Amino acid sequence: MSLPARERELFAPVDADIAAAGSRAAKLAALARHVRVCELCPLSRSRRHAVPGEGSARARLMIVGEGPGASEDDTGRPFAGRSGAQLDRMLADAGILRRSTFITNIVKCRAADEAGGRWHNRPPRAAEVKACRPYLARQIAILRPRVILCLGAWAGRSIIGPGFGIGSGRGRWFAGPSQSDVIATYHPAYIQRGGPGISGKRLERLARADLESVSRRLKARKTT
Ligand code: URA
Repeated sequence: MSLPARERELFAPVDADIAAAGSRAAKLAALARHVRVCELCPLSRSRRHAVPGEGSARARLMIVGEGPGASEDDTGRPFAGRSGAQLDRMLADAGILRRSTFITNIVKCRAADEAGGRWHNRPPRAAEVKACRPYLARQIAILRPRVILCLGAWAGRSIIGPGFGIGSGRGRWFAGPSQSDVIATYHPAYIQRGGPGISGKRLERLARADLESVSRRLKARKTT
């Protein structure tokens, strides 16, 4: 990995611990320890728990969401709440075991603003995504997944490119980092809400087709 000097300097302790760890699982665990104490952006000040991600260290499928919500902030686990239940259903319908995947987010701490005494989720800001990106880049480099599934437009933009649009880009395959194939589908929370002029049921049908495409691609890339 050729890195900008600032990232190299900031992440030197992370990289040293990753390099010293033996197995992929140990490398992912070393990275997770750094995420849990990270203070690189203001989200660290309002979090209860950072959420590094979890799953199989041998996962061929990596799933990338937007960022932790309230349930994930409470538990330190990705997709632990209602969106997680929706994601579990979508995976099961496509014949994919959640425990065979690795699930993470583009930012590892909850992005939320306080108003009227309550915290409301919001999309992560560009600077927060930028600060967190080196963690995701390292997770991808350690895991070298065959397929990366982006959930929602923000994950798609972060991995596929800034011009990515979920309406026109979902369900299409792109070349990704570490020789992965990347695809994006609707975010489970969006499927639950439904969008302007599109029902949750229709979104779910489209997402199901995308997940079936993921399942086929994983079978096709068994040996590559
Ligand atoms: N939404 C996300 O994007 N990620 C999570 O971990 C939970 C909800």
